[in-house]
Parts: sequence; C-alpha cells; structure tokens
Amino acid sequence: MRRIAIAGNWKMYKTQREAKEFFTDFLPLVQNRLETSEDQVLICAPYTNLPFLVSFVAHTPANLAIGAQNVHWADSGAFTGEISAPMLVELGLKFVIIGHSERRQFFGETDATVNQRLKSAQKHGITPILCVGETKQQRDQNQTEACIYAQLEHGLKDIDQNNLIIAYEPIWAIGTGDTCDTDEANRVIGLIRKQLQNPNVTIQYGGSVKPENIDEIMAQPEIDGVLVGGASLEPVSFARIVNYTAIAH
Ligand code: 13P
Repeated sequence: MRRIAIAGNWKMYKTQREAKEFFTDFLPLVQNRLETSEDQVLICAPYTNLPFLVSFVAHTPANLAIGAQNVHWADSGAFTGEISAPMLVELGLKFVIIGHSERRQFFGETDATVNQRLKSAQKHGITPILCVGETKQQRDQNQTEACIYAQLEHGLKDIDQNNLIIAYEPIWAIGTGDTCDTDEANRVIGLIRKQLQNPNVTIQYGGSVKPENIDEIMAQPEIDGVLVGGASLEPVSFARIVNYTAIAH
C-alpha cells in the first residue's frame, strides 16, 4: 500500500507568531479530513518554529506532523550553522526534507552529501523526503531521465527504501506558476518508481501546486501526494490542497 503524503515546505518563511496564526486558521479547515482519512499531512517549517509546532500538533490527529527542511550527517561536531538528526529526534520530529533543489543550487548540496544526510536521518528513525528534479536546460536537452536516474542512483546508495519518501520537483516548475503537465509528472514518477527496489515508496510531485490544480494532480495514478511551497503558506489554500477531491484508481 502506498500512503498519500501532502506536505508543505515553508522554506524560509514565517516567524513563530506567523506560524501560530497559520495553525489557528488552518486546523479547523482540515480537522474533518484529518479525522477521516489515512493521508499523512505534513508541514516542514524553519528550525525556529519546530519546538512550538511539535508541541502544538501533539493535540491534533496523529496524521498531522511537523518536519524539518534539512539535517546534517554527523550526530554532532564542528559544523557551524548545521542541525543534527539527534537534535530533531529530541523534538519528536519524524520527517525531514533532504536535497531540495534550493539546497543543491544555493548551498552546494551534492548527491554525495544528500546520501550522507539521508543515512543519518534513517539511522535515527526519521523519514527523509528526497527531492529530485531536472533543470529547464536539462529538460530542453532531453536529459530529464538521465538527471533523475543519476540523482537516484547516488542519493539512494545503501538507503532503506522502506523508510523513504521521494519528491519529484522539476526545478523549472518551482515558484514559477509553470506546473509540469500532470500527465508528464505522472510519467516521470512512474519512471522513478521503476528504478526503486520498493515499488511502494510514496512519490510526491512538487512545483507550483495550488488549489486550482491539486485535484488533477491527485487523480494521476502514480502520484502519491504533493510537496507544496508558496501555496502552503496561506491557510485557506493549503487546506484546499489537503482537502483535495480523491478519485479511486
Ligand atoms: P512552489 O510550490 O512554490 O512552486 O515550491 C515547490 C517546492 O519547492 C516545494 O518544495
């Protein structure tokens, strides 16, 4: 069984005050869905919000969880500015995004460091969300498959596929309003699944997901959820995404 996971990635947005305001408005809008579905709903927030948000969701249905946006590979050490898996575990976190394209693009993340971070998350019982995706240039040069296969091959080396989520995020579709055609996202996610030893890994789509396209995305048979940036920052729009219209496959 593939579990659906609807995740928000808040990136570097929201102070604690703003995070509290978000949840005050958001929770009543999704309460019913949380109580009646098996979907995993997740918000990956900046580190400074994590302690407060974890204690906050302790009083909500268990399928609403909080995640982090990165984790270091060492348990501790002289790594200024980094956060380790034991630090996230201490907060009670169960999810972390790893290898987001913004980390790869702006902070020098490589497939090798992504792989090390994935291992550390798993070693400490945290489910990593591995992000993969091609640039516009790679797509235009018919390199989409080659790019993603390389990210998977190196990123997933010696990784337990029973404790893993993958997010396919074409870089050209992130924050641009330019969503990948749902058929194409479905095709690429199907190809990703074929590369895996465990075909039941949850594979999300990310890139300009919004209330207007969520139902169409979730109707695709290979797509097991979404990783949402901009539209997860506003309670009404993220609630509409969480409350997508399910279609039986
Ligand atoms: P947008 O939904 O803003 O395009 O961002 C997608 C993303 O990067 C999620 O991780």
